This record gives sequence, C-alpha cells and structure tokens, in this order.
Amino acid sequence: MNLVRAIYPGSFDPLTNGHLDLIERGSKIFDELIVAILRNAEKDPLFTLAERLQMLEEMVKRYDNVRVETFEGLLVDYAMQKKAKAVLRGIRAISDYEYELQMALMNRKLQPQLETIFMMPAEAYSYLSSRLVKEIFRLGGSVRGLVPELVEQRLREKFHGTAATNK
Ligand code: PNS
Repeated sequence: MNLVRAIYPGSFDPLTNGHLDLIERGSKIFDELIVAILRNAEKDPLFTLAERLQMLEEMVKRYDNVRVETFEGLLVDYAMQKKAKAVLRGIRAISDYEYELQMALMNRKLQPQLETIFMMPAEAYSYLSSRLVKEIFRLGGSVRGLVPELVEQRLREKFHGTAATNK
C-alpha cells in the first residue's frame, strides 16, 4: 500500500479556526496528516509547548487520520524521519506567498523528494492569524468565531485568570 503521509508544521500559538480549516481539508486528501508543532527555544510563545499540544490534540481527536507531534531541527529531516511525502502549508493572501515560496523552495533544495502542498483556508479566515488573535485578545477585543472555544477559554485563563471577559 502506498499511503500518503503529510506534515502540517507550524507554531500554532495559538491554534486558530484557520488552522483547523486547513487540518480538515488536509485530512480529506492525505491518508495521514501529522500536525507538527515546532519546538523553538528562540521564540517566546504565549502558550507553552505542552499547552499547544493539548489544545491541538483535543481539537483533532475527531479525525481518525490526524495526529499531533512536536519537532525540532530542520523540517525536512523530521519529514524524512516520518517517511512523509508532503508538507502542507496554508496560503491566506498574496502577502503569504513570498515567504511560503522561499520556504518551499529551500525545503526542496534541502530535500528534493519532499513536496510542499499549499491549500487555501476558507475565505472567512483569510485575514486571520495567531499574532492578531493574541493582540486583539490582549487589548480586550473579541476573538469569538476566530478560534475554537477551547482556545478562547485558555486565552481567558492566560490573560485574566478565569474571569469571563472579552465577550
Ligand atoms: O507557523 P509558522 O511559524 O509560520 O511555521 C513556520 C515553520 C515551523 C513551518 C518553519 O519555521 C519551520 O519549518 N521551521 C523548522 C526549521 C527549518 O526547517 N527551517 C528551514 C525552513 S526553509
């Protein structure tokens, strides 16, 4: 059997509905999808790796062919180790294209056997990013509908203890 396993890598700090939209699309075209959270000591994430892992695991448990892992080092090395044939990335707007193209071509240079597959999230999420979610929430705005309820709850706990603000 020739199963196609793909890796969907990212920071997921935090997971948004745009990420989930892509996971759902990816789960339909790949036999197996590994959502891979980068363990990056240089970045200063809002959510710890364990928190991001837990939220993602909770949200993908409805898909039989999706699982969550963490990785460090080069994505291409991790992908080869996992025997993955493809990397899945989302492109929201033209502004994403340059960075994504650069990354895809560099990954291809490093590992020509690995393909990068781009998918577009639903239009409703085309302006959505983890960075904006954090900023909006921190400044008291509502992120309802932009992130799963679980993430909204975790954001509330992070920023305000357990108080129900940002409604
Ligand atoms: O969600 P992000 O932050 O846009 O994801 C970026 C990610 C994790 C895909 C990228 O930083 C990555 O692949 N890092 C691993 C290190 C690596 O392989 N770097 C070379 C990329 S050409």
